[in-house]
Amino acid sequence: MSSQLEKVKELIELRAEARIGGGEKAIAKQHERGKYTARERIAQLLDEGSFEELDMFMRHRCTNFGQEKKSYLGDGVVTGYGTIDGRLVYVFAQDFTVFGGSLSEAMALKICKIMDMAMKMGAPVIGLNDSGGARIQEGINALAGYAEIFQRNIMASGVIPQISAILGPCAGGAVYSPALTDFTIMAKGISYMFLTGPKVVKTVTGEDVTQEALGGADVHSQKSGVCHFAAEDGEDALKIIRKLFSFIPQNNLEEPPLVECTDPIDRLEDSLNEIIPDSPNRPYDMYEVIGAIIDNGEFLEVQRDYAKNIIVGFARFNGQAVGIVANQPKYLAGVLDSNASRKAARFVRFCDAFNIPLVTLVDVPGFLPGTGQEYNGVILHGAKLLYAFGEATVPKVTVTLRKSYGGSHIVMSCKQLRGDMNYAWPTAEIAVMGGAGAVEVLYAKEAKASENPAQVLADREAEYNKLFCNPYNAARYGYIDDVIEPRNTRFRIIRALQQLATKKLTNPAKKHGNIPL
Ligand code: HXC
Repeated sequence: MSSQLEKVKELIELRAEARIGGGEKAIAKQHERGKYTARERIAQLLDEGSFEELDMFMRHRCTNFGQEKKSYLGDGVVTGYGTIDGRLVYVFAQDFTVFGGSLSEAMALKICKIMDMAMKMGAPVIGLNDSGGARIQEGINALAGYAEIFQRNIMASGVIPQISAILGPCAGGAVYSPALTDFTIMAKGISYMFLTGPKVVKTVTGEDVTQEALGGADVHSQKSGVCHFAAEDGEDALKIIRKLFSFIPQNNLEEPPLVECTDPIDRLEDSLNEIIPDSPNRPYDMYEVIGAIIDNGEFLEVQRDYAKNIIVGFARFNGQAVGIVANQPKYLAGVLDSNASRKAARFVRFCDAFNIPLVTLVDVPGFLPGTGQEYNGVILHGAKLLYAFGEATVPKVTVTLRKSYGGSHIVMSCKQLRGDMNYAWPTAEIAVMGGAGAVEVLYAKEAKASENPAQVLADREAEYNKLFCNPYNAARYGYIDDVIEPRNTRFRIIRALQQLATKKLTNPAKKHGNIPL
């Protein structure tokens, strides 16, 4: 064999060695845990055969605790680039079979390299996390590695989309990289995220808690809001990423991909003309409205199980991706509270950062009153949503279906927050407050002095409702651009979006604003 052939053979052998990561035994153990290996995951995520791996020959440089005798090609993370539906993405997948996927200086260098490339090329970064945290043997170098990644997460925020899947442990400070990214997907049963694990919790607070109850997918998708999508398993998590990817652009200077629309744009939905119940206290399901107006009923909901009183997610109108923000009258009457405000504000800011128009569907009775909310800072949280809508420069189309009262009217993308097209259904009630509350304030004295207080209040309420609880009063002042027939909502939104395609609006130059955090 020529020496060149020998060298080629050596290369092939080294590649084979790198590809088995921590070895066959460790791979079998990974499979026993119900998890795929880093390379299997990348194969599931990307278009077939599109992955180009980088830094396969990198090794750690640690000599503490005899580490020099224990090193693996690639050192615990697989990095590179490939395509999803033909579009370039950069990806890293932590390899749990090597030192439990723990983060070393070398791993950080590999991850940072592809993050830097993604920024240069203007393409998204997808991180598949499965790691025991900082590589304990590397001490401060592992911490420095995390900090290098976080800094890049911060610089990339709003420039390229960043998506994190949690497919195993993600604990300690390691949780902050996913938290800094745009979307976090957790696989049920195999993933957990927490700052301090059950043992430390027990020592510090005395609380007995399992990993799952402390930071499993259900916890973070239902209670904390850290997780945007709870996937059934690891494979499902990767499918969700592919789907999500179809709605978002490559970077902040590009538009989301335009998809061919097979759903007639002028499709009339007669059911919408009868969806609002006669009683203002009876709910209806906002999902039905969303499903009826978007292309082919295809809705990718974000944070489905968190703050269900507001619905956010991606859909398309005439093939164009939009972000939908909608109050859900079926849950807590669609009231705005702290969690709903935070959830929607973050979504609005993502859409605005990445040129995704916003369609807002309003049916909101107001903000949730009470000490629970006030002590929790609902003032600041509500202000986040107000700020997010107000600063957004993407096309904004708002449709008020029913209630739109007081502060919540303003917050939900009203005209003065630079709403471009503000429509209302004939059932809309746009006013400072509901009739019953208003007459209590205005006519309590008059009622008390009369012989029949209840009748006085009822008469005054009817008068108030007639005057204010309709869309025409707002339309009279131009705050509503048109009152539309509900069944024609899809067409009117599509027309509005077409008109707004060339919208140009910029905010004043500044270092950055000071959103009420
Ligand atoms: C080095 C690690 C490691 C780590 C796991 N391993 N975590 N090696 N540094 N952080 C190694 C294990 O020694 C083991 O090696 C292999 O990975 C697999 O781990 P197991 O324990 O056998 O797996 P499992 O039973 O599934 O448990 C997984 C685990 C557990 C829950 C993640 O390994 C664990 O608790 N690890 C430590 C977690 C931790 O405290 N990390 C540091 C947090 S502080 P062998 O050779 O036996 O196969 C932190 C600060 C970050 O991360 C700050 C950022 C700002």
